Amino acid sequence: MPSTAASVAFGSRSLTAVDLNLAGWVKKITGMPTITVGSVSLDQDFISQPAEGDGASSEPASIDRLLEMLDRGDFDLVAVGRALIANPDWPKVVRSGETSGLNAFSKELLATLD
Ligand SMILES: Cc1cc2nc3c(=O)[nH]c(=O)nc-3n(C[C@H](O)[C@H](O)[C@H](O)COP(=O)(O)O)c2cc1C
Repeated sequence: MPSTAASVAFGSRSLTAVDLNLAGWVKKITGMPTITVGSVSLDQDFISQPAEGDGASSEPASIDRLLEMLDRGDFDLVAVGRALIANPDWPKVVRSGETSGLNAFSKELLATLD
Protein backbone atom coordinates (compact mmCIF):
# COMPACT_ATOMS: atom_id res chain seq x y z
CA MET A 1 0.00 0.00 0.00
CA PRO A 2 1.23 3.50 -0.72
CA SER A 3 2.79 5.20 2.28
CA THR A 4 3.05 8.91 1.66
CA ALA A 5 2.48 12.18 3.44
CA ALA A 6 0.27 14.43 1.39
CA SER A 7 -1.72 17.64 1.46
CA VAL A 8 -4.60 18.50 -0.87
CA ALA A 9 -6.92 21.45 -1.30
CA PHE A 10 -10.53 20.28 -1.55
CA GLY A 11 -13.04 23.05 -2.13
CA SER A 12 -12.39 25.69 0.48
CA ARG A 13 -10.82 23.20 2.87
CA SER A 14 -7.20 22.21 3.07
CA LEU A 15 -6.64 18.62 4.13
CA THR A 16 -3.43 17.17 5.41
CA ALA A 17 -3.07 13.49 6.06
CA VAL A 18 -0.39 10.92 6.45
CA ASP A 19 -0.31 7.40 5.08
CA LEU A 20 -3.80 7.38 3.60
CA ASN A 21 -4.37 5.08 0.65
CA LEU A 22 -7.07 5.69 -1.97
CA ALA A 23 -9.86 4.18 0.15
CA GLY A 24 -8.69 6.35 3.04
CA TRP A 25 -8.71 9.53 0.99
CA VAL A 26 -12.12 8.84 -0.50
CA LYS A 27 -13.60 8.18 2.95
CA LYS A 28 -11.94 11.28 4.38
CA ILE A 29 -13.09 13.57 1.60
CA THR A 30 -16.60 12.20 1.01
CA GLY A 31 -17.51 10.73 4.38
CA MET A 32 -18.78 7.67 2.57
CA PRO A 33 -17.92 4.10 3.65
CA THR A 34 -15.08 2.63 1.61
CA ILE A 35 -13.51 -0.76 0.94
CA THR A 36 -9.78 -1.09 0.42
CA VAL A 37 -8.34 -3.71 -1.93
CA GLY A 38 -4.96 -4.72 -3.26
CA SER A 39 -2.12 -6.96 -2.15
CA VAL A 40 -3.67 -7.88 1.19
CA SER A 41 -1.19 -10.33 2.75
CA LEU A 42 0.78 -10.48 -0.52
CA ASP A 43 4.08 -8.84 -1.49
CA GLN A 44 3.33 -8.01 -5.13
CA ASP A 45 0.69 -5.76 -6.70
CA PHE A 46 -1.96 -7.30 -8.90
CA ILE A 47 -1.53 -4.67 -11.60
CA SER A 48 2.24 -5.09 -11.77
CA GLN A 49 1.86 -8.72 -12.74
CA PRO A 50 1.89 -9.64 -16.40
CA ALA A 51 -0.61 -12.21 -17.58
CA GLU A 52 2.30 -14.50 -18.42
CA GLY A 53 5.75 -14.82 -16.93
CA ASP A 54 7.51 -15.04 -13.62
CA GLY A 55 5.91 -11.91 -12.21
CA ALA A 56 2.51 -13.55 -11.78
CA SER A 57 3.25 -14.77 -8.28
CA SER A 58 3.22 -13.22 -4.85
CA GLU A 59 4.63 -14.39 -1.56
CA PRO A 60 2.76 -13.99 1.73
CA ALA A 61 3.34 -10.67 3.49
CA SER A 62 2.48 -9.05 6.80
CA ILE A 63 -0.91 -7.44 7.33
CA ASP A 64 0.25 -5.44 10.34
CA ARG A 65 0.15 -2.13 8.48
CA LEU A 66 -3.27 -2.94 7.06
CA LEU A 67 -4.60 -3.66 10.55
CA GLU A 68 -3.24 -0.33 11.81
CA MET A 69 -5.08 1.49 9.02
CA LEU A 70 -8.27 -0.50 9.65
CA ASP A 71 -8.09 0.10 13.39
CA ARG A 72 -7.77 3.86 12.98
CA GLY A 73 -10.80 3.86 10.69
CA ASP A 74 -9.19 4.76 7.37
CA PHE A 75 -11.73 2.51 5.60
CA ASP A 76 -14.61 0.24 6.55
CA LEU A 77 -14.00 -3.08 4.82
CA VAL A 78 -11.09 -4.98 3.31
CA ALA A 79 -11.42 -7.00 0.12
CA VAL A 80 -9.14 -9.99 -0.39
CA GLY A 81 -8.50 -11.32 -3.89
CA ARG A 82 -5.56 -13.52 -4.80
CA ALA A 83 -4.70 -14.41 -1.20
CA LEU A 84 -8.16 -15.96 -0.86
CA ILE A 85 -7.62 -17.99 -4.04
CA ALA A 86 -4.36 -19.32 -2.57
CA ASN A 87 -5.89 -19.74 0.90
CA PRO A 88 -9.60 -20.56 0.87
CA ASP A 89 -9.39 -20.63 4.68
CA TRP A 90 -7.77 -17.16 4.76
CA PRO A 91 -10.19 -15.64 7.32
CA LYS A 92 -9.74 -18.61 9.66
CA VAL A 93 -5.94 -18.56 9.34
CA VAL A 94 -5.69 -14.80 9.87
CA ARG A 95 -8.09 -14.91 12.82
CA SER A 96 -5.92 -17.62 14.40
CA GLY A 97 -2.81 -15.46 13.99
CA GLU A 98 -0.97 -18.31 12.28
CA THR A 99 -0.21 -16.25 9.17
CA SER A 100 3.13 -17.98 8.66
CA GLY A 101 1.06 -20.85 7.29
CA LEU A 102 -0.42 -18.81 4.43
CA ASN A 103 0.30 -20.05 0.89
CA ALA A 104 1.82 -17.93 -1.85
CA PHE A 105 -0.28 -16.97 -4.89
CA SER A 106 0.69 -18.07 -8.38
CA LYS A 107 -1.24 -17.78 -11.59
CA GLU A 108 -1.28 -21.57 -11.91
CA LEU A 109 -3.77 -21.63 -9.04
CA LEU A 110 -6.36 -20.05 -11.32
CA ALA A 111 -6.53 -23.30 -13.29
CA THR A 112 -7.53 -25.14 -10.11
CA LEU A 113 -10.72 -23.11 -9.60
CA ASP A 114 -13.96 -24.96 -10.28
C1 LIG B 1 -8.71 -14.22 -11.23
C2 LIG B 1 -9.06 -12.76 -10.99
C3 LIG B 1 -10.16 -12.22 -11.61
C4 LIG B 1 -10.51 -10.87 -11.42
N1 LIG B 1 -11.60 -10.35 -12.03
C5 LIG B 1 -11.94 -9.07 -11.83
C6 LIG B 1 -13.08 -8.52 -12.46
O1 LIG B 1 -13.80 -9.19 -13.22
N2 LIG B 1 -13.37 -7.21 -12.24
C7 LIG B 1 -12.60 -6.44 -11.41
O2 LIG B 1 -12.92 -5.26 -11.22
N3 LIG B 1 -11.51 -6.94 -10.81
C8 LIG B 1 -11.16 -8.22 -11.00
N4 LIG B 1 -10.04 -8.72 -10.38
C9 LIG B 1 -9.22 -7.84 -9.55
C10 LIG B 1 -9.59 -8.04 -8.08
O3 LIG B 1 -10.92 -7.61 -7.85
C11 LIG B 1 -8.65 -7.22 -7.19
O4 LIG B 1 -8.84 -5.84 -7.41
C12 LIG B 1 -7.22 -7.54 -7.45
O5 LIG B 1 -7.05 -8.94 -7.51
C13 LIG B 1 -6.35 -6.94 -6.36
O6 LIG B 1 -6.59 -7.57 -5.12
P1 LIG B 1 -5.54 -8.68 -4.56
O7 LIG B 1 -4.20 -8.02 -4.58
O8 LIG B 1 -6.08 -8.99 -3.18
O9 LIG B 1 -5.62 -9.85 -5.49
C14 LIG B 1 -9.71 -10.05 -10.58
C15 LIG B 1 -8.58 -10.63 -9.94
C16 LIG B 1 -8.25 -11.97 -10.16
C17 LIG B 1 -7.02 -12.52 -9.48
